[in-house]
Amino acid sequence: MLSKINPTQTNSWKALDEHFGDNDFELRSLFQYNPNRFEEFSIKKDNFLFDYSKNLIDARTKELLLNLAEECQLKDAISKMFSGDKINETEGRAVLHTALRDFSDKEILVDGENIKPQIKRVLDHMKSFSENVISGNHKGFSGKEITDVVNIGIGGSDLGPVMVVSALKHFKTRLDVHFVSNVDGNHIAEVVKNLNPETTLFIIASKTFTTQETMTNANSAKDWFLKAGKQEDVAKHFVALSTNVQAVKDFGIAEENIFEFWDWVGGRYSLWSAIGLSIVLAVGYDNFEQLLKGAENTDQHFQTVDFSENVPVLMGLLGIWYRNFYAATTHAILPYSQYLDRFAAYLQQGDMESNGKCVDRNGEFVEYETGPIIWGEPGTNGQHAFYQLIHQGTELIPADFIAYAKSPNEVSDHQDKLLANFFAQTEALAFGKNEEEVEAELKASGKSEEEIDFLLNYKVFHGNTPTNSLLIKELTPFSLGQLIAMYEHKIFVQGVIWNIFSFDQFGVELGKVLANKILPELENREAISSHDSSTNGLINYYKSNK
Ligand code: F6P
Repeated sequence: MLSKINPTQTNSWKALDEHFGDNDFELRSLFQYNPNRFEEFSIKKDNFLFDYSKNLIDARTKELLLNLAEECQLKDAISKMFSGDKINETEGRAVLHTALRDFSDKEILVDGENIKPQIKRVLDHMKSFSENVISGNHKGFSGKEITDVVNIGIGGSDLGPVMVVSALKHFKTRLDVHFVSNVDGNHIAEVVKNLNPETTLFIIASKTFTTQETMTNANSAKDWFLKAGKQEDVAKHFVALSTNVQAVKDFGIAEENIFEFWDWVGGRYSLWSAIGLSIVLAVGYDNFEQLLKGAENTDQHFQTVDFSENVPVLMGLLGIWYRNFYAATTHAILPYSQYLDRFAAYLQQGDMESNGKCVDRNGEFVEYETGPIIWGEPGTNGQHAFYQLIHQGTELIPADFIAYAKSPNEVSDHQDKLLANFFAQTEALAFGKNEEEVEAELKASGKSEEEIDFLLNYKVFHGNTPTNSLLIKELTPFSLGQLIAMYEHKIFVQGVIWNIFSFDQFGVELGKVLANKILPELENREAISSHDSSTNGLINYYKSNK
């Protein structure tokens, strides 16, 4: 079990509170008075640089945040997670997505059983199956090779694979991998309309195999397939990824086509498990293994490196500094890589479903803020959309900038331009443009005193917006695995300190239950009156117009 310490009652929280009140951190002066600031607040590893010097902190802030981690027993929590303690107490489960990428010989026990052999068995199955499909040995019902794969899943059974497949496009096999998630029938309709059932493989990805969206899409996929193939052909065209083997069999999928995973893998942490089958088909097994090895590399870093140099720990602590002391409500994820176009969406589930909680580990309502809103888009696109608000709005929005030094596609000077924007934005956000600078600029451009008076405030950039920069040498499966695991552990660090349970998601249940109650009410056109007036009004408008 994890400790159950209210962070606000610790000495370090109180010290941080005072420290926050006593200081007015200004990035301009922090850099001016400390020429070693970059060296002091950055970490260089073999293949990446993590620069956190553009944060509103000094050495004392860092020391107090590290004390907070210690007082909240983070070290103990990390070792409990990795060794399989049932730290997901509300669901009575271990949290072992890290075991899926542990290539050591070490045993990991769940209920007294070493889980490593089962992990290996499923990985071997994924390897042989994917090799058969990619090589063309696995044929569809009419004897043709598979050309397209459709992953049907939602949430954790979709977002991770979608993000990774997009990020690793440049490692693509000959297969085209598509994703269907939304229960909106237009999603599946648009995906299958250009596909041939003879050459399409469906992956039904669902941890529980009960999720309404996925089951609905799976049935529609089967109906679509059965217009061309026969019931006995289903085995060649449908496989399932699930913890619920019985439900998969009941759906009609043969036992040999089931790729199993286990209740100690959380949905939003499941891309490393059988849920990664679409990734394996999209980029090949060896690349998937590299992805796992990258994550394992971060796992080792997280477990062994001193907290003062530990990237996920520092990311988590900095987030707490802004959320709980600066009252920042959101955190932006800004990858300067089109390959990471789904990274922010992926992290939204990872972070917000994990730390969007208001009850602590003692069962009490928290009296402090927990998980922030996570959002973002790739740069430079975001610059032309929402950066205005980050630069000159009224909110403090801490942001993570992520970029790669090398680009797999060398297209004239695009890469330098992309990176120039990355550097420029973190600089502008940190240092802004003050009144004197604006005034001098306006004068130099020939503006009159009157014009300068009018324009001055509009042109000032307040700056002092904190950013982390992650500059990675190259976007490979390995470095992507490292990156994803960094964020997983950042989320873990924050959950431990906020004293919440990060691995359940009861908050998504109510809507699901109500939707199932409403569904039969939509069958006919008769007006209903069983809800509040707004819900009745909406339902009745829909019924008379559908
Ligand atoms: O609605 C939330 C959720 O339970 C997520 O946590 C999960 O990733 C998603 O639904 C899909 O669940 P399943 O894989 O069981 O279909």
